[in-house]
Amino acid sequence: MNINTDVIMNTYSRFPICFERGEGMYLYDIDGKKYLDFVAGIAVNSLGHANPKLGETIAKQAMTLIHCSNLYYTVPQIKLAEKLVEKTDFDKVFFCNSGAESVESALKLARKYAYMKGKPGTEIIAMEHSFHGRTYGAVTATGQEKYQKGLGEMLPNIIHVPYNDFDALKAAVSEKTCAILMEVMQGEGGIIPADKEYLQNVRKLCDEKDILLMFDEVQTGVGRCGELFAYQVYGVAPDCLSTAKGLAGGVPIGAFMAKESAAKAFNPGDHASTFGRNPLATSCGLVVMNELFEGGLLENVKKNGQYLGEALKNLAKKHEKMVSDVRGMGFMWGMELKGEAAPIIKKCIDAGLLLVGAGPNVIRFVPPLIASKEDIDEMAKILDKALE
Ligand SMILES: Cc1ncc(COP(=O)(O)O)c(C=O)c1O
Repeated sequence: MNINTDVIMNTYSRFPICFERGEGMYLYDIDGKKYLDFVAGIAVNSLGHANPKLGETIAKQAMTLIHCSNLYYTVPQIKLAEKLVEKTDFDKVFFCNSGAESVESALKLARKYAYMKGKPGTEIIAMEHSFHGRTYGAVTATGQEKYQKGLGEMLPNIIHVPYNDFDALKAAVSEKTCAILMEVMQGEGGIIPADKEYLQNVRKLCDEKDILLMFDEVQTGVGRCGELFAYQVYGVAPDCLSTAKGLAGGVPIGAFMAKESAAKAFNPGDHASTFGRNPLATSCGLVVMNELFEGGLLENVKKNGQYLGEALKNLAKKHEKMVSDVRGMGFMWGMELKGEAAPIIKKCIDAGLLLVGAGPNVIRFVPPLIASKEDIDEMAKILDKALE
């Protein structure tokens, strides 16, 4: 690899790999080495790499209209919002460009909702070990101190309680609480699914106290967990939902959705985005939605997601000295090791398999939603050797 990395700001611990192109489940670096991709840009490339339908849509839309102000409507924006509303419990959609922005939208709406209702407090309860992004609001809501270190004052009135602990949450709720924010399955925190009963109890509590329940499905959303959104796997709908990552197959996009009762707290001028809902991103979102529902992609995640889970559990049994747990759903799994995950991930990368960690001890598996049984077998073979 002969490139000038000095010009790039030092915000990531990067691998010395420079990618040039991709095709389906594979990425190719500038030296021609081929990698099986079980990272998918961290749960982003839902259709795999160089998907022809996505590429053609981008080319066509780029020659038609890339951007115009949010002072006007565009047809792809309306069509994607209609599709999201049709397939979920929400009535309104706000488009932005990233996961953190969709979380910021949730934090702002929560406080506007309290203001609209004349409620006394602006406190938001978030979860320990959560991850919500890097903007100041989202990083304040993130329940991991390492992301806040050295940044000075965080946003006021955001507190954290242990995840999956209903008693702790209930005890923290007060007159001041306006919203509860959580992931349905914690991603960066180590692939930790919520308990169903916990989510049901939280929903009930929010209804009783008129508190907004806000799910961050930036990582778990858009088919990754076997339904369009992971909350649909649990059958517990929040009042608002933030999503991003895979929604446009790799083109930057975020979406914040809310039920009418909550969405009406936003009025013209309250929230905005220059690039949000641009026709390029939203037309790509339509391609992804179409593939999920008409192209068999959701079915693939359901079927092969189970196969992926079984493959990982078999490896855990075989390497029980190394592996302490396997958990997840759909195409989002974590393998918890008794030691550090980084050396195993490095071995896999050297052998041509891309994996990513989720915390120090967990290997994460978030392949493109097109992954086949053969791809899973190929991944398991390389991981098996690395664990040996
Ligand atoms: C659950 C969750 N929320 C928010 C974010 C932030 O998304 P973005 O990096 O697009 O701002 C992430 C990113 O990993 C995430 O996993």
